[in-house]
Amino acid sequence: MFISGASILLTLPCLIASVTAAANPIGPNPNPKRGLVYVPSKDHPEDDKIWIQTDSPLTWYYNYKTLPSAPLEGGPTNLEFVPMLWGDYNNTFVEDVKGLLGQGYKIEYVLGFNEPDNPANGGTGGSGVSPESAAARWKESIQPLAELGIKLGAPSPTGSPSGFFAACDECTFDFIPLHWYGNFDGVASHLGTYSSAFPNMSFWFTEFALDHQDVAPSQDFFNLTMEYFDRMDNVGRYSWFGSFRSDVSNVGPNAALLNEKGGLTYIGAWYLNKDEQQAASITGKGGAGNLSVNKLQSFAISAFVVAIISWVL
Ligand SMILES: *[C@@H]1O[C@H](CO)[C@@H](O)[C@H](O)[C@H]1NC(C)=O
Ligand SMILES: *[C@@H]1O[C@H](CO)[C@@H](O)[C@H](O)[C@H]1NC(C)=O
Ligand SMILES: *[C@@H]1O[C@H](CO)[C@@H](O)[C@H](O)[C@H]1NC(C)=O
Ligand SMILES: *[C@@H]1O[C@H](CO)[C@@H](O)[C@H](O)[C@H]1NC(C)=O
Repeated sequence: MFISGASILLTLPCLIASVTAAANPIGPNPNPKRGLVYVPSKDHPEDDKIWIQTDSPLTWYYNYKTLPSAPLEGGPTNLEFVPMLWGDYNNTFVEDVKGLLGQGYKIEYVLGFNEPDNPANGGTGGSGVSPESAAARWKESIQPLAELGIKLGAPSPTGSPSGFFAACDECTFDFIPLHWYGNFDGVASHLGTYSSAFPNMSFWFTEFALDHQDVAPSQDFFNLTMEYFDRMDNVGRYSWFGSFRSDVSNVGPNAALLNEKGGLTYIGAWYLNKDEQQAASITGKGGAGNLSVNKLQSFAISAFVVAIISWVL
């Protein structure tokens, strides 16, 4: 499938969706769409149990890796694990996934490369894979899983995956993971652009937040996107970024689900279908720390457009 960068640029301004805020941010419980980007804390492994509580709406998780994270396995939530092949390297992905199936894991989906259009050493979580290398690796290490009936998540560039699929005729994919950092109009527009380019496709928002903003707009964004993603049929799944303490958040303290002491923030409570009386604080305090696993740039529409041009053309 191929779409030109120019066609995306032309459709962008038309697709700013107008959405009425009929906020029901809490959503169903359990919620088949809502999941966890697992970003473990070396200093606070005790935080892990927050994500596997009784009555949690969370139903699935990914950890940027091939194999499950022991602390999240089992428990009352019994989260479904979604393996990821993060980048282009020698790997045992196919064997690992088959091994999990052999052990009785229900593996229905896998995720392709994480932000391949961002440089691997750029400190923003990119895996720095060219469309050509991604295509070669895909054929060898991801495509064979389709024969087992596993659904494949396309590479999740911050721009468009079209360049990748232009480089690989034989590659197939079943859904497209997207990342979004910005406001609500932006995320609605982003989804609109992709829905036009890939009709009938299912999209997963595997990282998203309004980053580095004040408490009120952050909560507002949270409520709007929860209601929107739960309602949209073409949003298959979503996972908020992120599930970490505010003092190590690289997307700003007000996007974190935990405060600096590991208690739930308001959005943390809401994400877990609790009300704010069950939160430890409205939000958390920031700090000088950095996340080691996945550092993200906040990007605006302009960065998005630049990324599309460089990956599509
Ligand atoms: C890839 O990994 C396998 C298993 O670890 C190893 O046997 C093989 O030599 C590696 N290939 C390359 C090209 O590094
Ligand atoms: C989308 O799905 C509908 C219903 O399954 C089908 O009729 C239509 O042809 C599909 N459109 C595209 C572009 O694949
Ligand atoms: C967000 O949703 C929560 C939970 O329903 C609600 O208590 C809060 O008032 C909402 N905030 C805004 C700004 O809509
Ligand atoms: C966080 O990262 C920035 C940029 O990568 C760096 O300049 C800063 O020193 C880091 N802070 C800590 C506490 O590691």
